[in-house]
Amino acid sequence: MEPKHIEIFKGQKATDYDRFITELFPSYSLFKQSVPKILKQQLATNIKPKILVAGCGTGNEAKLLVQYNQYWYIDACDPSEEMLAFAKTKLTPYKKVRLIKGTVDELELKESYEAATLFLVLHFLIDEGSKLALIKDIAQRLKPGGTLLLFYISGGEKELLDTFAIQSALFPEYWSPKDIAERKIRITKRLHAIPNGRCEELLQEAGFAKAAKFHQFTICSAWITTKIQNNSCLHY
Ligand SMILES: C[S@@+](CC[C@H](N)C(=O)[O-])C[C@H]1O[C@@H](n2cnc3c(N)ncnc32)[C@H](O)[C@@H]1O
Repeated sequence: MEPKHIEIFKGQKATDYDRFITELFPSYSLFKQSVPKILKQQLATNIKPKILVAGCGTGNEAKLLVQYNQYWYIDACDPSEEMLAFAKTKLTPYKKVRLIKGTVDELELKESYEAATLFLVLHFLIDEGSKLALIKDIAQRLKPGGTLLLFYISGGEKELLDTFAIQSALFPEYWSPKDIAERKIRITKRLHAIPNGRCEELLQEAGFAKAAKFHQFTICSAWITTKIQNNSCLHY
């Protein structure tokens, strides 16, 4: 069995998540607004697609998707009970969203989904099988030709240090130098940011076509790819 690593968000980390994430990544809201439109383009021929939001956290991307198109069915999974509790408060009015406690490998093993998102999860997993296992778990649940969108912290250590220095100009004024220094160590040394080129390798190993980058802002980048159809290869 492949190794599995889970970074459970709980306590203060869960409570503060929505505020913290917009302060840490000022471009994240703008990026997320683009996601429903990009998926609409990908899903053009399917009017009632099923979309998997892997590692949904407090439910922000699931809410954006379901508000954008009332015919989209969303399964949103996350292993953190506390993050899911926040998601529930946002998503209860939307009957087409199903919140599931657990990791992707715990979902039914069936090619059920036309699309999946994996935002801000991959850099928590070590690159000794866990990243690949999660991408493969998603591939096994996507239909051939299905779309995968990813957003994660990317770059080697030197690049991350340089871009973090630039990004720190955008942090809120109440963040102390000590907070910023700790955050820098966490991002550049403790998390498992993905070096350039490595995610494309993992995606191809898991059965996806060559990915295209569609967003980059300082330390984060976003990618789009599709699950390879039998006997054919889709390239962007
Ligand atoms: C930084 S949050 C991202 C939440 C949301 N996707 C967003 O962009 O706001 C990371 C989430 O990934 C979840 N997580 C951690 N390891 C995971 C795994 N192996 N599979 C699925 N989710 C995982 C955590 O519980 C946490 O809620």
